Amino acid sequence: MNPESGTMRHAHVTGWGRYVPEQVLTNADLEKMVDTNDEWIVTRTGIRERRVAAAHETTASMGAVAGLRAIRTAGLDPDDIDLILLATLTPDYWMPSTAALVKEAIGNQRAAAMDISAACSGFVYAFATAQAYVTAGLAKHVLVIGAELLTRFLDYTDRGTCILFGDGAGAVVVSGSDEPGGSLGIEMTTEPQGAYMIWLPAGGAKAPPSPETIRRGEHFIRMEGRETYRFATRTLAATAMESIRRAGLTADDIRLFIPHQANIRIIEAVAKGLDLPMDRMFVNLDKYGNTSAASVPIALAEAANEGRIAVGDAICIVAFGAGFTSGAATIRWTVDPARGIAGDAAVDPSSIHVRLPQDWDAVDPIPPALAEIMARPDPLNVPLDDVVPGEPEPAPASVS
Ligand code: ACO
Repeated sequence: MNPESGTMRHAHVTGWGRYVPEQVLTNADLEKMVDTNDEWIVTRTGIRERRVAAAHETTASMGAVAGLRAIRTAGLDPDDIDLILLATLTPDYWMPSTAALVKEAIGNQRAAAMDISAACSGFVYAFATAQAYVTAGLAKHVLVIGAELLTRFLDYTDRGTCILFGDGAGAVVVSGSDEPGGSLGIEMTTEPQGAYMIWLPAGGAKAPPSPETIRRGEHFIRMEGRETYRFATRTLAATAMESIRRAGLTADDIRLFIPHQANIRIIEAVAKGLDLPMDRMFVNLDKYGNTSAASVPIALAEAANEGRIAVGDAICIVAFGAGFTSGAATIRWTVDPARGIAGDAAVDPSSIHVRLPQDWDAVDPIPPALAEIMARPDPLNVPLDDVVPGEPEPAPASVS
């Protein structure tokens, strides 16, 4: 990392992109696996379906597609990136970092790369870290990725968790500039008294993996749903408001809120807490469920590509998650939102490869409970549905 850029006072979002796997897991599919039903899931969560990564896909491969799309949207080449930050709670391996794998997969030769661990708040934490690097003059262009492969860490006998989560990745490029705009205000909190409300007990130093930890199912995500719900509804609006206050704005100034996509009732509580109508909240959880650290950047990319954000708008991204953590960033948008469609189209997912060691065969990663669905004879081919007709000419980024 050698930006030689000097100090730049403002950190702008100049690129964005996202990737979701093709395979869809519907509420009807889940009805065949656990004692649940579509009506309960839709009423209590708003989720209708979620995506499931195929056997050849990993957190790194999805993150690399989303990241390269964000780089193309920004009108940059991979080697323009000084730093890669990847937020995830489902890394490919304990080590190396998933960010390091992404660096190689996108063909970057010069960036520093590291993972950020703050569960579903991870993307906001990584975004704040990117701002700090950029405004300190330590980096000019930072690639910030949120990527998750949660469907391999779920207990498909636990109806309280397995219905909620899905796979995917989103990314932004944060670029330094002397032009005003970009990230205006950040707020982050951590409340460790919530530490065991969402956790994955085994696999770490406290409980290394063993036949016994597997027998106990301690390698799956556990969650106290009601307590998590209470934390989210208590915290999210306040976290967003503090970020907006630091930006010198009020909630009325925010064109669009992009909240963590965990539960429609939590998002409705945020709107109520901010005294704003639901049309100021971006929602896509019906299509993807909760993709943890990927949910905010996927939603941000879709909101931009759908024309919900215009140059000059202030937006607020806000998330909560295990820890308990919460985080929010208020951002002045400065780049033509139409650029994202060309950025998506510029990267074919089949062109991305995450290297494996030659002498190692990974075991089949698909959970047995999902095997039948993943083996559908005629895989659903779901198009990217945020792409609006027309092929806009790639234009230079307004911030360089
Ligand atoms: N289908 C049918 N019934 C169910 C299901 C299901 N999938 N899950 C639970 N139930 C039952 C319960 O057993 C309970 O039955 P009972 O009354 O007979 O005991 C009843 O439904 C109500 O259960 P609650 O847990 O009270 O349901 P609630 O309305 O709280 O909804 C939910 C549960 C959706 C999990 C909610 O609490 C929630 O969204 N919590 C927040 C979770 C969240 O956002 N997690 C993300 C964390 S971010 C991160 O860092 C990973």
